[in-house]
Amino acid sequence: MIRFKDIIIKYGDFVAMNNLNLHIKEGEFFSFLGPSGSGKTTVLNTLVGFLQSASGTITIGDQDITNVPIEKRNIGIVFQSYALFPTMNVYENIAYGLRAKRYPKKEIDPLVRDIAKKVDLTDEQLLKKVSELSGGQQQRVAIARAMVTKPKILCLDEPLSNLDAKLRVKLRQEIKKLQKEFGITTIYVTHDQEEALTLSDRMAIFDNGNLQQVGTPKEIYTNPQTEFVQNFIGETNQLPGKDFKEFLQEKLEIDETKPVYISIHNIRTEKKHKDSIELKGEIKGIEYFGLYMKYTLQVTEELQVRFIQFIGVGKEHELGEAVSIYVDPENIRQY
Ligand SMILES: Nc1ncnc2c1ncn2[C@@H]1O[C@H](COP(=O)(O)OP(=O)(O)OP(=O)(O)O)[C@@H](O)[C@H]1O
Ligand SMILES: [Mg+2]
Repeated sequence: MIRFKDIIIKYGDFVAMNNLNLHIKEGEFFSFLGPSGSGKTTVLNTLVGFLQSASGTITIGDQDITNVPIEKRNIGIVFQSYALFPTMNVYENIAYGLRAKRYPKKEIDPLVRDIAKKVDLTDEQLLKKVSELSGGQQQRVAIARAMVTKPKILCLDEPLSNLDAKLRVKLRQEIKKLQKEFGITTIYVTHDQEEALTLSDRMAIFDNGNLQQVGTPKEIYTNPQTEFVQNFIGETNQLPGKDFKEFLQEKLEIDETKPVYISIHNIRTEKKHKDSIELKGEIKGIEYFGLYMKYTLQVTEELQVRFIQFIGVGKEHELGEAVSIYVDPENIRQY
């Protein structure tokens, strides 16, 4: 539905996005994930129309919108900071977009009340000033304001970043529920990988102005395609190629000039495969995470490997204990 084709975005001479090609399907919950400064907001702002690309085209359906002004793109936006009008009441904040689009007066009231109900804002709250609401309530106002004009596309730029951890989890479930209910194509910008993994149908990983990988959360988590994604998603062991090659003694082909990566989630505490590689060592570190323990295993003088074990599964280890862990050859990766 939304297609970025050969998009380059610049601030002066600085290239903030390098030749972006990306397709987002209708009805999809699609996340942009990447570290601070990777270009997520830049791409979103170009889709919305706040920024103009230096080259390339953006289409929505079969319409080329590259040069279409913001107000004609039919995109709802929730910004990184809510950008609500603090002195206006909630009702007026939500009605703002409808008034700007010159909806007839008598249509505005039912639309505002209907969307307010959907995001669980009460009639009483509609009359409050935005500054009198909690962060979570303000966030719902921002979503209601973006959705009230029934846009085809909803863009949310880190909408939960101002909130505490508990509220974030609750509200992201609400956002997902609303998105499902409305079936609206949604682009969600975040640098929180848990948020992206749990919410998205598909996601794009950005780094430093480059699109690194596109896929479902599972595809990206289990099959990182670049060294950046391998390091960025989940937790990984990075081992010196030369030392790992020596350790393996020709069992596998290893390029000694490059690091070896083994994702923590790919390490088993039992041998399942006849080809599994055994890493035998001594427990050097133990960390308690409530749901699981994280252990550090000293395999050789140069090789330390971290792995986790869920509490209640198997026996807990002690410092100094000799332990074997296993990894399948296909999960030993180099880029
Ligand atoms: N108005 C601007 N003028 C010049 N450079 C900018 C401008 N806005 C952003 N940049 C630069 O472009 C790059 C991408 O910025 P962008 O805001 O898109 O990052 P982001 O991925 O949204 O980061 P964050 O997670 O911190 O919001 C950064 O290097 C940033 O410094
Ligand atoms: Mg940003």
